[in-house]
Amino acid sequence: MENIKQYVQANKDRFIDELLNLLRLPSVSADAAYAQDVLNTADAIKISLEKAGCDKVEICETPGYPIVYGEKMIDPNLPTVLVYGHYDVQPPDPIELWESPPFEPVIKKTDIHPDGAIFARGSCDDKGQMYMHVKAFEYMIQSNTLPCNVKFMIEGEEEIGSKSLGWFLERNVEKLANDVILISDTGMISNQQPSITTGLKGLSYVEVEVTGPNRDLHSGLYGGAVANPINILAKMIASMHDENNHITIPGFYDKVIELSVEERAEMAKAPFSLDDYKKALDLGDVYGEAGYSTPEHTSIRPTLDVNGIWGGYTGEGAKTVIASKAFAKISMRLVPDQDWEEITQLFKNHFEGIAPKAVKVKVTPHHGGQAYVTPIDSIGYKAANKAYTESFGVPAIPVRSGGSIPIVALFEKILNSKSILMGFGLNSDAIHSPNEHYGIFNYLKGIETIPLFYKYYVELKKAN
Ligand code: BES
Ligand code: MN
Ligand code: MN
Repeated sequence: MENIKQYVQANKDRFIDELLNLLRLPSVSADAAYAQDVLNTADAIKISLEKAGCDKVEICETPGYPIVYGEKMIDPNLPTVLVYGHYDVQPPDPIELWESPPFEPVIKKTDIHPDGAIFARGSCDDKGQMYMHVKAFEYMIQSNTLPCNVKFMIEGEEEIGSKSLGWFLERNVEKLANDVILISDTGMISNQQPSITTGLKGLSYVEVEVTGPNRDLHSGLYGGAVANPINILAKMIASMHDENNHITIPGFYDKVIELSVEERAEMAKAPFSLDDYKKALDLGDVYGEAGYSTPEHTSIRPTLDVNGIWGGYTGEGAKTVIASKAFAKISMRLVPDQDWEEITQLFKNHFEGIAPKAVKVKVTPHHGGQAYVTPIDSIGYKAANKAYTESFGVPAIPVRSGGSIPIVALFEKILNSKSILMGFGLNSDAIHSPNEHYGIFNYLKGIETIPLFYKYYVELKKAN
């Protein structure tokens, strides 16, 4: 049987076509209007796992969207790799900013992707990255080189907090037993410099509502005499960072693990160009917590951001009005050892505490999760690094990400196993944004690299 490189060359058109078909299904978990499409996507994943060679594939019902579970058990004495991914995607809006429709994938060349990239919602996050595992598995079955047992667990609620997956884990500890969890749902530094994600941020996501008068008012008749909830909300939000861009919520930093000078120096070795960063985003300058670098802001420091804010009149022309209510959605990205539920409570107490008597406030927590860090001396990490080194020609660099996959901390807590985050996306792939895309190079290189992980993982495991 041919090797993986030859197999990818011979089958790449089919691999791409199959992914394009998956991307045509609008599996938006956040919006109930797409519910049937989400379910159809689960069915499509089931069929693809069966075709690739799983012995048993099931659609596991949950209180929410189903989890697709598949397995190929070849020998109970061999290690078991559990592959996790998600088939749901973010809403495509703002739709008018897409150059081509989000669920009609097209391949276009870009500066960063001279071999072309697939433009579609979910192409990188996470259908393209998840599907690499299905195709890598297909190769190992076809070539008779699968060196261990494999389980697949592909969920449909990652983008809305993985609630049903937590429920599923608790009820299926035995079924999901594994030696290591393998995930491609993160990124790497560049197509020339692979990296392995060694940290994910935690998250606390809240919605706030500020109510002033009991009805909208004429802004001339009442303006200046009553609290304008939009003015007040803006002021409250602004007060949550001080002049050094530290977050002012009392107790917010109490449990943050500060890194040593040595650890920070080690991290600073990862290549990063501030000029390129600013250029890519059209920024006059970067902005952030005093005393830390840009890579540190997104990796080792907790942050607070408004994700959306609304209230009052936003239609065409001018309307003179003092709105009765103002709203905002706020996320806090957390680092070890902050506890997301405790942080949510601290936020709530603080937000209620700083509100003037002239308004009423309500804080509604959405979802959250704990941060995750993984050591670089584990067998899983070493195997991943060997795989990248062989397929890219240079070793991978460990990097802590600013993104969150809250379920990863629960994998450790409930299943007692470490996750290896072998991401192949790039920051410029515009995930969650209009014109999301995923490089053909990245997709095919991922398919090539994954079987090497299995090979080295089993080898290192045997040797230990
Ligand atoms: N795949 C992303 C997370 C990610 C992307 C991590 C890139 C590292 C690098 C995941 O689908 C995601 O979007 N997570 C959400 C959290 C979730 C609870 C909605 C996030 O980070 O905003
Ligand atoms: Mn994802
Ligand atoms: Mn996402």
